[in-house]
Amino acid sequence: MKIASVVGARPNFVKLAPIHKAIKSFSDHTIIHTGQHYDYTLSKIFFKEFNLPPPDVELEVGSGDPGFQTGEMIKRLEKFFLKSNFEIVLVYGDTNSTFAGAFAASKSGFKVGHIEAGLRSFDRSMPEELNRILTDHASDHLFAPTKTAVQNLQKENVYGEVFYTGDLSVEIIKNAISLASKSSVLDDLILKSKSYMLFTMHRAENTDHKKNMRSVIQAFEVLSQKQIETKIIFPIHPRTVGKLKMMGLYKRLKDCVNVIVIEPLGYIDFIKLMSNAQKVITDSGGIQKESYLLKVPCVTIRNNTEWVETLNDGWNILTGTDTNRIVEAIVDRTFEQNYRPTIKPIFGSGKTSKIIKDALLSIVHNQ
Ligand code: UD1
Repeated sequence: MKIASVVGARPNFVKLAPIHKAIKSFSDHTIIHTGQHYDYTLSKIFFKEFNLPPPDVELEVGSGDPGFQTGEMIKRLEKFFLKSNFEIVLVYGDTNSTFAGAFAASKSGFKVGHIEAGLRSFDRSMPEELNRILTDHASDHLFAPTKTAVQNLQKENVYGEVFYTGDLSVEIIKNAISLASKSSVLDDLILKSKSYMLFTMHRAENTDHKKNMRSVIQAFEVLSQKQIETKIIFPIHPRTVGKLKMMGLYKRLKDCVNVIVIEPLGYIDFIKLMSNAQKVITDSGGIQKESYLLKVPCVTIRNNTEWVETLNDGWNILTGTDTNRIVEAIVDRTFEQNYRPTIKPIFGSGKTSKIIKDALLSIVHNQ
């Protein structure tokens, strides 16, 4: 069976890993890397840590404005697809590489399978939201991680067949936790478990708006003024560094005594850091569900989330980028001290890669 996977950015590689493991024994699996992410810490390190083979095809598209970047991917993918033959092309998540992969594959006459289909934040100003919608409507097989995602797809009356699969993060986290025992990141950063918070911010809806970036930095300044000394570890995405420098805010961030800015981390170190954090503060989608599974309270600096189930019971709260709401959420410890509800199996049973593998076998068998 000939299957291709199109990946290009950090969150795509994380999802590719369990799928590759599940399908490699019965398929000829071609991994196509668009080149959206190219820095070692955003790309190669994931292949190394997850024991993935190097990509079979490297399109080396690199960075650029969304239209240019997606257009280049589609052009180069089409060129490759024209001389290939696949029974199904898989795409993952909601990045520009996801949409480009789905569009180019479907235009080339291949069946498309979307892993992590049906998520909606209902905020069309997010580049990821448009990628999700367009990818879902270009797909023939939609692998939905949550019941909400299934309902979203049904409401939109998508063309393809919808499968409820649970979410890959359950098995990804389980695997990462066992590998994380080897990580020395806490010692390297001289941190004690539960003595710090972990912060990430890279989403365009925040980084592209000076008002939002300033408001978040102000929250850290207020914490320093209140003499709250809990360290905030910030593995910084290159997009965020670039934007902060351009907006003249980088020095203000570095002047926040609580905030420790570090290079982006590999997945294993990151999971180690997250599982030992007091709290996570983020605008990432994946990190919201990972912190839920790791039972670490999460403050999401967005006004909405596609992982709505994490909001039930208080494990995740939305603050937007409002300075006061972020500060309140950071200093509020009542949730951790008095009331920690058990987490629910909202992301399925941890057998998602097997469920997807079985679905792929039956899809190809019936083609
Ligand atoms: C992309 C995804 C986002 C995902 C994130 C994870 C889209 C629309 N967004 O955002 O959903 O959460 O990946 O990291 O696909 N850059 C580097 N080195 C790299 C890659 C990028 O320095 O290896 C810089 C470039 O200056 C580039 C900027 O980061 O212009 C943004 O990169 P891009 O791939 O466009 O989007 P991300 O912000 O990484």
